[in-house]
Amino acid sequence: MSAQRKDDHVRLAIEQQHTHRGINQFDEVAFVHHALAGIDRPQVSLATSFAGLDWPVPIYINAMTGGSAKTGVINRDLATAAHATGVPIASGSMHAYFKDPSCAHTFQVLREANPDGFVIANVNATASVENVWRAVDLLQANALQIHLNTAQETAMPEGDRSFGSWAAQIEKIAAAVDIPVIVKEVGNGLSRQTVLALKELGVAAADVSGRGGTDFARIENGRRELGEYAFLHGWGQSTAACLLDAHGAGLPLLASGGVRHPLDVARALALGAKAVGSSGGFLRTLLDGGVDALVGQLRTWLDQLAALQTMLGARTPADLQACDVLISGGLREFCDQRGID
Ligand code: FNR
Repeated sequence: MSAQRKDDHVRLAIEQQHTHRGINQFDEVAFVHHALAGIDRPQVSLATSFAGLDWPVPIYINAMTGGSAKTGVINRDLATAAHATGVPIASGSMHAYFKDPSCAHTFQVLREANPDGFVIANVNATASVENVWRAVDLLQANALQIHLNTAQETAMPEGDRSFGSWAAQIEKIAAAVDIPVIVKEVGNGLSRQTVLALKELGVAAADVSGRGGTDFARIENGRRELGEYAFLHGWGQSTAACLLDAHGAGLPLLASGGVRHPLDVARALALGAKAVGSSGGFLRTLLDGGVDALVGQLRTWLDQLAALQTMLGARTPADLQACDVLISGGLREFCDQRGID
């Protein structure tokens, strides 16, 4: 059941990449062009730091999969691309491994193919501390992600209906591991209120993973024969809105959800993200074109991000926050209603 679900998620996420592109509020974030702002390319660094971590690049392959034979191959290929480019990579939820340890290898490939890379283990907010330790140990993980996905669970035929224990369990896990804990959404966004609460629970960073890309309510509805939650399509806040909302809430922010190209990466960094992840788009490249295509895409993104920083006069990704940006349309309205300047 679990292995079948993992294969369904990949199939439906790719179908979504090919057929459905929702509204993306990164289009409502524009840099003001200053024609004399440019610097020299050798002055530009892509390095970023947050939560005690130093990453050479501000782009990562976000959580996706593992738990079935097919997704084990995908994980090996994603990790091979991460290894070739130095890009950090997250595993998919390791719940499948807790339920059936015989699928361990479908996750372990993330470390095998990427022995010196930055690898992030991924669990849900009900995982026991013992299982979290097993997950971290299996991957020799450098950081831990805990995912929050109430909208997905609600739309999932076999999904959870009890969310009340999540905050206390996150606090327990954060206290029990000695690597940074990043809490993330799965495409519906984290509000300022949520980020403030996460800070109190002792987590090190929050990945807002907002609306605009992979839509899990749509994916789960694609797995239902009856009783669709079609009204949950497009639920939540966009990634750009989340970054504006949670700015200054006291936790380092990572951005994912609907990041389409290096300009979206630069926009997210300008709105305060320390690093920017993609899942569905990178998966599509891998499945359409193989590992070489994904390596090519990651190299191009890093090269073009450095080119944008050169043009915008930002020596580091963090310097992009000093650039002038214009916010328009629905995103402007969101800011007005939320009292954001
Ligand atoms: C995901 N995502 C995800 N997130 C997570 O924390 N644990 C998981 O197991 C999964 N599984 C998963 C499978 C597939 C096939 C996809 C495409 C995505 C969510 C992912 O990490 C990210 O938050 C969202 O996909 C939004 O980013 P994109 O896809 O719009 O770049």
